[in-house]
Amino acid sequence: MMNVMQTEDEYGPQTYQKYPVVIVRGSGAELWDDAGNRYIDCMGGYGVAIVGHSNPAVVAAIKAQAEKLITCHGSLYNDARAEFFEKLVACSPKGLDSAFLSNSGAEANEVALKLAKKYTGKKGIIAMKGAYHGKTAGALSATWNKKYKEAFEPLVPNYSHVTYGDLAELEAAVGPDTAAVIVEPVQGEGGIILPPEGYMKGVREVCDRKGILMIADEVQSGLGRTGKLWAVQNWGVVPDIMTAAKGLAGGVPIGATVTRKEVMHVLKKGEQTSTFGGNPLSCAAGSATLDYIIKNDLPGQAVTKGAFFLQQLKFLGSRHNITREARGIGLMLAFEMRVDIQNIILNSVKDRVIYTYSGRTILRLLPPLVITETQIRCVIDSLDKVLSMEKRANG
Ligand SMILES: Cc1ncc(COP(=O)(O)O)c(C=O)c1O
Repeated sequence: MMNVMQTEDEYGPQTYQKYPVVIVRGSGAELWDDAGNRYIDCMGGYGVAIVGHSNPAVVAAIKAQAEKLITCHGSLYNDARAEFFEKLVACSPKGLDSAFLSNSGAEANEVALKLAKKYTGKKGIIAMKGAYHGKTAGALSATWNKKYKEAFEPLVPNYSHVTYGDLAELEAAVGPDTAAVIVEPVQGEGGIILPPEGYMKGVREVCDRKGILMIADEVQSGLGRTGKLWAVQNWGVVPDIMTAAKGLAGGVPIGATVTRKEVMHVLKKGEQTSTFGGNPLSCAAGSATLDYIIKNDLPGQAVTKGAFFLQQLKFLGSRHNITREARGIGLMLAFEMRVDIQNIILNSVKDRVIYTYSGRTILRLLPPLVITETQIRCVIDSLDKVLSMEKRANG
């Protein structure tokens, strides 16, 4: 029989931080490995599994669409795509009434950056220190972490980075050639960093005062994760351009760049296309996903479950002195440690809970919003045990 780990290691790249486990099945907030062991999934596919793994409503929509039509280029009209456009625009922040569909978060951001440049006729992009926007050239230029960028420089020119949370620094960085500011409402990869009070509104005001566009990257924070459908809604802000991806199609690859028609329509025929963008399969999955999120009030669920989860993490924090801080909003959570978290992650996998990293010391939790209170209690019990082991290992 094929050894899955050996085969992936042999033929795949070495770019992923691999966990020693072979996952073959998922349901809700649970995953199963090839030996039949069950795990609680606090990685959630890096935030993709918003509606849970293999959500039955999404599976049914995919099955029905797959039997009808899987691919249909954007040059032909398609019913599944039209329906998804309508649903996406209907639930987007007010005034954002047009979307470009692509296949990933990075691609959604590339489109946003191109739109901003073409609409304003300017070239400068201001991003945030600590930001993560993806690994394609434009998105990578906006990303902060040097380790992702250094080997590939020069990247796209005219990008600068300012301190997330510092409005004066942002205002000072805007020059005559600035097209846009790109910001994650809550920094994800950077360690679940919440904006200081008044910051998002302040960014909006700076953009208005200076006549530049505000791009909100909702790839990780969107779709209910922070307790509102879009994280910007926590602070009553409407960006000029919003990007979404990850969980938007229940796990099927998708990206979306949502903006006002007057911005979208500066891109002329051929200036932005994608072979797979807006394919019927991802659109059908996307429609089922949005319906499920709204019908089941997943943003509301993220509020109550997130508050309980965070309170429990803080309680663990008070019991274990190797921890530094538990923080987050909704079900976008982080548990920062005073130690490297590699052992905590690996011992948790052995204990059947899966987390993800934000750097070397921050445990990031992006569970499906359908996680149950019982599952959250199991995670807390497991983490209590694993942190005790780690404390002993650290003397
Ligand atoms: C805020 C944010 N933007 C963009 C991306 C890139 O998305 P993708 O990996 O689908 O290209 C991510 C991925 O983690 C993200 O968290």
